[in-house]
Amino acid sequence: MGGFSVHFFLSSELEPVKITRLEAENIKRIRAVVVTPGENGLTIVGGKNGQGKTTALDAIVWALGGDRYRPSKPQRDGSALPPKIKLTLSNGIIVERSGKNSDLKVTDPSGRKAGQQLLNSFVEQFALDMPKFMQATPRDKAVTLLRVIGLEARVGELDRKEQELYNQRRTIGQISDQKKKYAEELPSYPDAPSEIVSASELIQRQQAILARNGENQRKRQHRDELKRQKAEQERTVETLKRQLQEAEERYRSIAEDYETAQKDALDLLDESTAELERDIWDIDNTNRKVHTNQAKARAQEEAKQYSDQYEGLTAQIEAVRKQKSDLLNGANLPLPGLSVENGELTYMGKAWDCMSGSDQLRVSAAIVRALKPQCGFILMDKLEQMDLDTLRDFAAWMREQGLQGIATRVSTGAECAIIIEDGYSKSADEIPVPAPVKQTWKAGTF
Ligand SMILES: Nc1ncnc2c1ncn2[C@@H]1O[C@H](COP(=O)(O)OP(=O)(O)OP(=O)(O)O)[C@@H](O)[C@H]1O
Ligand SMILES: [Mg+2]
Repeated sequence: MGGFSVHFFLSSELEPVKITRLEAENIKRIRAVVVTPGENGLTIVGGKNGQGKTTALDAIVWALGGDRYRPSKPQRDGSALPPKIKLTLSNGIIVERSGKNSDLKVTDPSGRKAGQQLLNSFVEQFALDMPKFMQATPRDKAVTLLRVIGLEARVGELDRKEQELYNQRRTIGQISDQKKKYAEELPSYPDAPSEIVSASELIQRQQAILARNGENQRKRQHRDELKRQKAEQERTVETLKRQLQEAEERYRSIAEDYETAQKDALDLLDESTAELERDIWDIDNTNRKVHTNQAKARAQEEAKQYSDQYEGLTAQIEAVRKQKSDLLNGANLPLPGLSVENGELTYMGKAWDCMSGSDQLRVSAAIVRALKPQCGFILMDKLEQMDLDTLRDFAAWMREQGLQGIATRVSTGAECAIIIEDGYSKSADEIPVPAPVKQTWKAGTF
């Protein structure tokens, strides 16, 4: 079938393609399994561990995806017959693999034979392989989402801008921290004067005090002189009795003067220069402290400038982030609440590793679906991580989306449409479930 007819075939087909029926025999663990999934919602393939549940999904992937998805050892151990798969699709196409070489046979609704090319036209790797999306790096997940909503280039540009600002801010932040640390490490002397002390002023004050002390010294000398004269005069009184009268008068007068001088001298008090001497001695020390205090003030000012700059960059980063989130909020998202933050996919503000297992499945289903809208089914392994309430919600969401989910779950409960045991499938009708549960439940409509 040529490219033109494939295109015509697809454009005339409005409904996404779904799986109507799977028959698989002698593949890996499977002996004989039949699955007839519901058109919408979840069809759960249940069973205990190691019974062949995942193998059923592998069979679908192999049937549609071709040799790239061929299991390394497809034939069931102990089987005399080669593996056989028959997959019926909702658009009427039947895909079969059978025989020793697992030859592909594709039959279109008009009965014509076709090959892998026709399958490739509506099935692509991601749509088939949800686990592959789930295992992609957070960055690759984000890129996939942006591709789906057509914003890859614009968000990429904003990401680059944000990264640039972020790097710039990190550098400024480091300098700011260093400056702050340097300022903090410098010692502080709250008692030191704010300006450098002048030595000449201290010396002047010292000289003034020394001059006053010199005056005192003269007064002391004067006192001593009078004392000496008094003694001399005493001797004169002794010696010159004749002149006693005059001498006594003179003596009294001098004695009086002496008394006065003596009293004066008692009140004399010398000022100390000790403190100034200490200050002069300490001048280098003081000035070192003043220099240090000034350096600290300068360092603090510088640290503040860098801190202001850092805050400015933070504001710019936030503006870019807002621009990006506005862009994403305005986009046609496959699931409300999806976004890209710091180049990574988020859902309801949570990064992939912070999402619950069921949210991860919901996100993956929505994105994988959007990648290939013509593919109406999604395969999901290991759905046991959802409890029954979450499973019910998820199934309802799948139905709303018009999506067909074929999922495996380690369970033999009523939520399973079929149960695989020892490589054989049991359909819903054959599963022993309590009557009230069975009434409310129908295969493929979970
Ligand atoms: N070629 C084969 N022939 C027979 N058995 C096989 C073959 N290849 C794999 N197996 C067995 O199939 C089992 C796994 O099958 P599968 O992965 O489908 O089980 P499962 O039901 O999905 O189990 P789980 O619940 O652990 O995921 C393993 O026990 C494995 O040894
Ligand atoms: Mg499994």
